[in-house]
Amino acid sequence: MAKKAPVNVAVIGAGAIGLHHIEGFRGHPDARVVAVAETDVARGREAVDRYGIPCLAADYRDLLTRPDIDVFSIALPTWLHAQVSIEALRVGKHVMLDKPMTTNAADAARILAAAKKARRVFMVGQNQRFSGAAQAVKQAVEAGRLGEVYHARATWLRRSGIPRIGSWFTQKKFAGGGCTYDIGVHVLDLALHLLGDFEPACVSGQTAAKFGPQGRGDGSWGKSAIDPKRPFDVEDFCVALIRMKSGRTIQMEVSWAAAIEQHDINGVQLFGTEAGATTNPARLFRPGPDGHESVELKPTTALVNDNRMAHFVDVVLGRAKPFVTPEQSLVVQRILDAIYASARTGREVRMK
Ligand SMILES: NC(=O)c1ccc[n+]([C@@H]2O[C@H](COP(=O)([O-])OP(=O)(O)OC[C@H]3O[C@@H](n4cnc5c(N)ncnc54)[C@H](O)[C@@H]3O)[C@@H](O)[C@H]2O)c1
Repeated sequence: MAKKAPVNVAVIGAGAIGLHHIEGFRGHPDARVVAVAETDVARGREAVDRYGIPCLAADYRDLLTRPDIDVFSIALPTWLHAQVSIEALRVGKHVMLDKPMTTNAADAARILAAAKKARRVFMVGQNQRFSGAAQAVKQAVEAGRLGEVYHARATWLRRSGIPRIGSWFTQKKFAGGGCTYDIGVHVLDLALHLLGDFEPACVSGQTAAKFGPQGRGDGSWGKSAIDPKRPFDVEDFCVALIRMKSGRTIQMEVSWAAAIEQHDINGVQLFGTEAGATTNPARLFRPGPDGHESVELKPTTALVNDNRMAHFVDVVLGRAKPFVTPEQSLVVQRILDAIYASARTGREVRMK
């Protein structure tokens, strides 16, 4: 049975993205952020004071036992995602988890199993799906305006955007991987969502680390501590070809740092038999008798609340169906791992 309003939320981790979580939940009239857990007590204090949140815990486990807390909204470094999600689900919390789901597909499968067993809402906050532009393109695809969509290019190329060299983001055991896990996950998820196809057949990929190991390409994101001795053992470039069982293809190209002219190129481009489309900006392209037509796409009515936290609250309250399912997020994670396996072995990886 759906929860009754209000929905009480604990935000776990008050770093760069944790504050977005707090603000997102504050955007829903039936949600209340009642606690924050943060190991950096000064940072946590700043967050609770700024938003008038009544409780700060240095240890998130102190919040697991509070029956009045309905939701754990997790904005922790990626290596903690599986552990904290599973602990929270086991005690009956609903879990909103920031991307990527976790550091490997085996742990992602464990989270999915815990969510099913607990019968609680579990959602990975793939925010790019929620943007108005992505919704407009999704509507155009669903209305058949592109014809048969047979190919997608999923691109996120940053010129100088390594979150922060020496932070947890740039060490594999904490982050799972580099740009592929950090930003590739967004455009891969968006491409699969726009194609409406989560059944990969095989994956071929290559990764490289050309800038980070030399201390180049820093993007100064995040608040976690820097350790100059921390090895940079993740990739800052990735290219992949994903073949779907349907015959559709996705070409993914991602960099944290690269010698490119633009600062940031981000989006998904779709290739259809009747028209093509891009998400950034949301446009549709169609060859016509009078030349090439190019039109702006706007959502007719919203498919989903563009505030992912507010949408999550609606799902908990039984007012909306999940826009991102845990099964889909597991597929995304399996593809990411297959890209690494392909890069490691130099072979195409067949998906089961
Ligand atoms: N959706 C997006 O667009 C987006 C953008 C950036 C980051 N993220 C994701 O959000 C997550 C957090 O990233 P970030 O940039 O905020 O990182 P961050 O390093 O800035 O913040 C993480 C916070 O967690 C705290 N923390 C660490 N261990 C803790 C524990 N055991 N209990 C409580 N607090 C703890 C740290 O002190 C820090 O304040 C990552 O998984 C990242 O991939 C998502």
